[in-house]
Amino acid sequence: MDIVIVPNASDVATYAADVVAARIAGTPDTVLGVATGSSPVGIYRELARRRAEGALDLAHLTCFALDEYVGLAPEHPRSYAAYLDREIVRPFGLDREQVRVPDASRADLDEAAEEYEQAIAAAGGIDLQILGIGTNGHIGFNEPISSLSSRTRVTALSAQTRADNARFFDRPDDVPTHCLTQGLGTILEAGRLLLVAQGERKAAAVAAAVEGPVAARCPASVLQFHPRATLVLDEAAASGL
Ligand code: GLP
Repeated sequence: MDIVIVPNASDVATYAADVVAARIAGTPDTVLGVATGSSPVGIYRELARRRAEGALDLAHLTCFALDEYVGLAPEHPRSYAAYLDREIVRPFGLDREQVRVPDASRADLDEAAEEYEQAIAAAGGIDLQILGIGTNGHIGFNEPISSLSSRTRVTALSAQTRADNARFFDRPDDVPTHCLTQGLGTILEAGRLLLVAQGERKAAAVAAAVEGPVAARCPASVLQFHPRATLVLDEAAASGL
């Protein structure tokens, strides 16, 4: 595990964008795994800025989302499909088909999960997976006690995650209770993992992931098993190390 500690959130975005841009410059048809939430937004905006300046060609990317809420239509502004439309599809100049999201609006969610795994495999696997971390150590929506070998599946959000994500919704009760998420086993198959964390509120989860045992109670600790995992942290997120 490589740990990179930089002074602030803007440095996290720049450093991580450099890693992603270097990969894309060498391999324009990179398959990029894209996290949602607030943590990676700075990376996406920095990549879009470089594209707008003509310094980076993003046209040949294929992207796969980590997860999606069950019960929100793709058009719902708080769905991750809508988030990725705003932060990636349009600013990166991609067609919507280039950015895949688990289809959590399907009647048969187990089938949707299986098809998502097949789509990732058909694309040749994810080359570089961008990750955030939940305050409880989740990655994707793999909450504590998720199996370390789990695959894409339907799962329930923890009370803590629903409370953390209530800031994105009008009312706490509007936060969905379930999601479709790539599993920890799925995430571990990516060629490279790039986790970003900013702020004091992530410090305990980061410390557990890096210095604690590999344990289902901290799903991000599974990154210790990956041969090419990089954590880019600001000083506040690294303050528990
Ligand atoms: C979200 C997402 C994760 C994300 C994490 C942290 O709910 N499902 O992919 O990494 O929780 O969120 P944030 O970056 O907003 O702190």
